[in-house]
Amino acid sequence: MDSESLPWWKKTVVYQIYPRSYMDSTGNGIGDLKGIISKLDYIKDLGVETIWFSPFFKSPTDKPYKEHDCGYDISDYRDINPEYGTMDDVDELIKGIHSRGMKIVLDMVMNHTSIEHPWFQKSRSSKDNPRRDWYIWRDGKKPNGKKPPNNWRPMIFLGGAWKYDESTEQWYYHCFLPFQPDLNYRNPEVQKEMLDTVRFWLKKGADGFRLDIFNALFEDAEFRDAPFTFTIANGDMDLLFKSSKMTLNHPDTLEFCKKLRKTLDEYPGKFMVGEVGASLATLKKYLGEVVEDGTNTNGLNVIFDLRSTSTPMKAKKFKKLIESYERWFPEPFFPTWVFGNHDQVRRISKIDNDIEQAKLNAALQLTARGMPYIYYGEEIGMRNAKIHKSESKDAVSHHFKIIPQFIRNFITRFGVSLNRDECRTPMQWNSAENAGFSPPGAETWLSVNNTSEENNVEVEEKDPESLLNCYKRFLKVRKETTALNSGSINFIEIKKSPKSLLAYERKAIVNNKEDKAFVFLNFSRKNIRFHNPLKNPKVLVSTSIKTEPLDNAQIVLMPWEGIVLIE
Ligand code: GLC
Repeated sequence: MDSESLPWWKKTVVYQIYPRSYMDSTGNGIGDLKGIISKLDYIKDLGVETIWFSPFFKSPTDKPYKEHDCGYDISDYRDINPEYGTMDDVDELIKGIHSRGMKIVLDMVMNHTSIEHPWFQKSRSSKDNPRRDWYIWRDGKKPNGKKPPNNWRPMIFLGGAWKYDESTEQWYYHCFLPFQPDLNYRNPEVQKEMLDTVRFWLKKGADGFRLDIFNALFEDAEFRDAPFTFTIANGDMDLLFKSSKMTLNHPDTLEFCKKLRKTLDEYPGKFMVGEVGASLATLKKYLGEVVEDGTNTNGLNVIFDLRSTSTPMKAKKFKKLIESYERWFPEPFFPTWVFGNHDQVRRISKIDNDIEQAKLNAALQLTARGMPYIYYGEEIGMRNAKIHKSESKDAVSHHFKIIPQFIRNFITRFGVSLNRDECRTPMQWNSAENAGFSPPGAETWLSVNNTSEENNVEVEEKDPESLLNCYKRFLKVRKETTALNSGSINFIEIKKSPKSLLAYERKAIVNNKEDKAFVFLNFSRKNIRFHNPLKNPKVLVSTSIKTEPLDNAQIVLMPWEGIVLIE
């Protein structure tokens, strides 16, 4: 198919903003919408086309931190958290994004609400309240009902997934934290309300949605116990011999997904990306079947997959990941390329805080087939902060508070975040006190990382060899080169090439002509040299501006260098 006719979202690069940490316009230490609006030119100039916002909807962030999830527990889906601004600010934001030729993606937390949501308040008020059945209430086990209804456990935690509510003497189900009660999707009113909410935001101008823990929407209708399984942990989130089958990836979620897609398609040119933690075989099911002219499906458009965040910096590991993505997500499907988000240890801290390796990561992310996601600050190499558990704000960190700090540090070294504050510190704009996020003297909601003096936008903009400028070069070339933004991918096999080389070709059809780009990535700290398989190659872009990779019949790459060549 001719790449020119592909929808925008098949070629786009997404930039994720965590609103609390991007830019504070009021000086209260908390990021806000006006702050973000003031940075739209920076984002445009960076070269991304789509911005995904972690939720800025009404949510009880005025409560102590351990009692809310910083926006992922919504108390009104059609209103804005006053800490971040107003609906007028959102309208201005949408306008500002669209007028710069960019797109906006909102975070839909459909699985659960806050306990503060008026629906839940009504639901818990009495057994016969009309909202009772909007959530999942059950009697506890006999004789006195003080034992949970079954053995279900929450998505990422041990312990039970039911909370007892004294007033009506029943238990409610929560797949995440206890202040995030699950909505009951078996109730048609809930489905209708949430689909209407999606319409509400599409009408307002949203270009797409990121769907929070989308695989958790439906549970077993008969509330059967989670069965035993011979697994300690696996891709489908079975854990410690307990299967997740009764609570995650339920076939009815896949059915609902089709309805959601139909709703989305009422407004042409929109897309949705689902957060689904599962094996690739399970993920594939969410993408639905291929329909119409073979270019589209009736499921999610794409699935946010975290496999890349933990892939070691080895050519063969990334090769394997690309191979499995190609196997499971061939055209018209495609994978995502994610190195971080607001729940993960920042990638740069997993790769020795090494800027050169981070550049190679960017080169891979922006040249492999798929939809890249850049988490704010990743483009300047912002590191994971070190925050002691006694100072953490993150409710998940509180949940794990019994785990001693040294064990937490150990776990973090393996890339698992028990305190998500560490990847959510304020964006580093300049070398001033508070890094230009808040005015000097303000108390920021999380401390600015102590690397901010050298590691910030202003410093990096001036340095042609910075990570930021590397991102900009690759983003520009990706946008201008159809082969890179929407072409197919095939490995280039070069005889006797070093093991650390990953080489692939991207190929697209533009106006009936082939457009090709050739990518060579050196996953090692040494120079490598190998046979040049191309005729009259030219360098389109490199991770380094000092590159001179073409040496007669050979290609020479510097340590951790990544280049794109054309013929
Ligand atoms: C998702 C979000 C995470 C949130 C959780 C519950 O995993 O990314 O930040 O805490 O869902 O909504």
